[in-house]
Amino acid sequence: MKVFISRKIPEAGLQYLRDASVEISEWTEKRDLLPEELIAYCKSADAFLSAGGNKIDKTFLHAVRHLKVISLHSAGYDNVDVAAATEIKMPIGNTPGVLSDATADIAFLLMLATSRKAFYMSRIIQQGGWGFFEPTANLGIDIRYKTLGIYGLGKIGFELAKRAAAAFGMEIIYHNRSHNEEAEQELHAQWVSFDDLLEKSDVLSVNTALTAETKGKFNKDVFAKMKPTAIFINAARGSIHNEEDLTEALEKGIIWGAGLDVTNPEPMRPDHPLLSMPNVCVLPHIGSATEETRAAMSLLAAKNIVAGLKGERLPFIVNPAIYA
Ligand code: DGY
Repeated sequence: MKVFISRKIPEAGLQYLRDASVEISEWTEKRDLLPEELIAYCKSADAFLSAGGNKIDKTFLHAVRHLKVISLHSAGYDNVDVAAATEIKMPIGNTPGVLSDATADIAFLLMLATSRKAFYMSRIIQQGGWGFFEPTANLGIDIRYKTLGIYGLGKIGFELAKRAAAAFGMEIIYHNRSHNEEAEQELHAQWVSFDDLLEKSDVLSVNTALTAETKGKFNKDVFAKMKPTAIFINAARGSIHNEEDLTEALEKGIIWGAGLDVTNPEPMRPDHPLLSMPNVCVLPHIGSATEETRAAMSLLAAKNIVAGLKGERLPFIVNPAIYA
């Protein structure tokens, strides 16, 4: 049995596949495969391990319906037409849970770095601008004892809230479709309406999945309801915020700062105005990028491949409805 892997993945996952006698074909060039190239590679395989957001739409799915399984090297599956996959009973696997800590760490890092203008201050030194000291210069804002609002408090949001409460005594409010009992009990997190989240948050972090409902949610009208001292954090998906509206909100002082691990599009162009703003910190989508986390993700992705090739239920499945 053969798996096609669309980008280089960590050794842990490859070893698991070898141990299960799965033949590996890996795309190692540093460019995205064209849709027709991807289909051609998948045609000569029995399973597909998608590492890097390949578009898995209806056309693609119908072209590769001979595959026994498609396994994503990510928790997010916004690149997949899940309904179309379910319709043709194609199992789609993902890697939830193992990246919650690492991604929460990045959101936490962005909160603090943004509040103290850390990336900008570092750039100033590199440009020879570490000048005369003045007590009124280089000031950030404290986040200690302030309110952290989380839009989409799931596993990652919970880990972020835990860090913010323990390190800074932050009060946690959140907006979800349903209540997160664990966060309410353990962290005294309080469910609020979306408007209250906007009005009360000193730091507002997006930790939800990209869906039709969340796409473009943080736009001009939404930023206008936030505090002028608020910091906006997005370590989820860039398309959840409108980047032009965010830029304008920061330029006009409608909100105070932003920390982004995700942008729209990715990569962000190097001359983007957000990159030169003192109160903005941008990272290149590295939420899950630690040795340990990526190894764990590769292992889950490989486990999904092996289970799928054996015709077994995937241990981490996006569309369990196919088994109904
Ligand atoms: C995920 O797993 O969804 C991370 O954002 C990496 O894409």
